[in-house]
Amino acid sequence: MATVTFDKATRIYPGSTKPAVDALDIEIADGEFLVLVGPSGCGKSTSLRMLAGLEDVNGGAIRIGDRDVTHLPPKDRDIAMVFQNYALYPHMTVADNMGFALKIAGVNKAEIRKKVEEAAKILDLTEYLDRKPKALSGGQRQRVAMGRAIVREPQVFLMDEPLSNLDAKLRVSTRTQIASLQRRLGITTVYVTHDQVEALTMGDRVAVLKDGLLQQVDTPRNMYDKPANLFVAGFIGSPAMNLVEVPVADGGVKFGNSVVPVERDALSSTSDKNVTVGVRPEHFDVAGADSDQGVAVVVNVVEELGSDAFVYGTAQIGGEAKDLVVRVGGRDVPEKGSTLHVVPRPGETHVFSTSTGARLSD
Ligand SMILES: Nc1ncnc2c1ncn2[C@@H]1O[C@H](COP(=O)(O)OP(=O)(O)OP(=O)(O)O)[C@@H](O)[C@H]1O
Ligand SMILES: [Mg+2]
Repeated sequence: MATVTFDKATRIYPGSTKPAVDALDIEIADGEFLVLVGPSGCGKSTSLRMLAGLEDVNGGAIRIGDRDVTHLPPKDRDIAMVFQNYALYPHMTVADNMGFALKIAGVNKAEIRKKVEEAAKILDLTEYLDRKPKALSGGQRQRVAMGRAIVREPQVFLMDEPLSNLDAKLRVSTRTQIASLQRRLGITTVYVTHDQVEALTMGDRVAVLKDGLLQQVDTPRNMYDKPANLFVAGFIGSPAMNLVEVPVADGGVKFGNSVVPVERDALSSTSDKNVTVGVRPEHFDVAGADSDQGVAVVVNVVEELGSDAFVYGTAQIGGEAKDLVVRVGGRDVPEKGSTLHVVPRPGETHVFSTSTGARLSD
């Protein structure tokens, strides 16, 4: 049973003045699957390594349960880590690889065998226990690395991009396995990825980092529906949310010929003449050709996915050409070069301050 708390945890690497992780504040519940996500260099691995004890903490604290582990060596933290490069010992069998940490800890052979067999059963590795890693597929090797962590029965699992060595298809199936395994074991897990789809599909909650600063920590649903700022809005979701700078109008903001309603209070918090409106590709309604609502989009490229399609086009908004992405039904695909009238769906728009990036709409 363990909660994990980052309490304004800060890491400043020697020789640097800017923190790689700046006052990170997250409380992770017992048994929760928390995903740290963000672009390369934003401080994900550093955060995880601080929790693991592999990186000094220069400010703030880290707690596991009610233990302050800020300055404890890694071995005293009761954690197990799975890395991107899972580095199995090539000369050892799968069973020996999985039991190695227990052997080092002086656990007796029979006990090790029992734990390894249990883990192998959970991971569907029983028939491979006597093989060497080189005789396994990438996905199986990844599961052995998971097994190594599981046999230790830690209070917390830490995983740093554990799927990045797998091909696209295997990543999808393995991410489901890891997520369901974690739920079954109920072990608090902090998982690092740069892939926002992985983050949304696996996490109970997702924490988005940028330049060492926490942007938002929320459930996948809230993160998608109510991104806290422009960065999160653009980062979460694929294809990305359409973000267009538009003038403030009466009762809302003007988006082509449509007015996107925004509560008066929200707009009064900004003195900007312009704000940024966000509309996800699936939140446009296609209107008839004679519609005087919304904007006219000239179709440049259509990406067909079978079930639906993404239209990449250009619209004139506020006298400027803007690229927009619109999702349409797979069987209602417009011709390249044609014009599509799209209207942002009421209640599905987002408004942000252009100057600060902060969310203005509720
Ligand atoms: N040992 C180190 N010494 C100095 N700077 C470091 C060190 N390790 C990382 N950094 C810097 O700290 C910042 C955060 O690095 P970190 O490895 O945590 O990023 P990340 O989010 O894990 O990125 P990626 O997705 O590429 O793995 C980066 O600017 C990086 O250059
Ligand atoms: Mg990293």
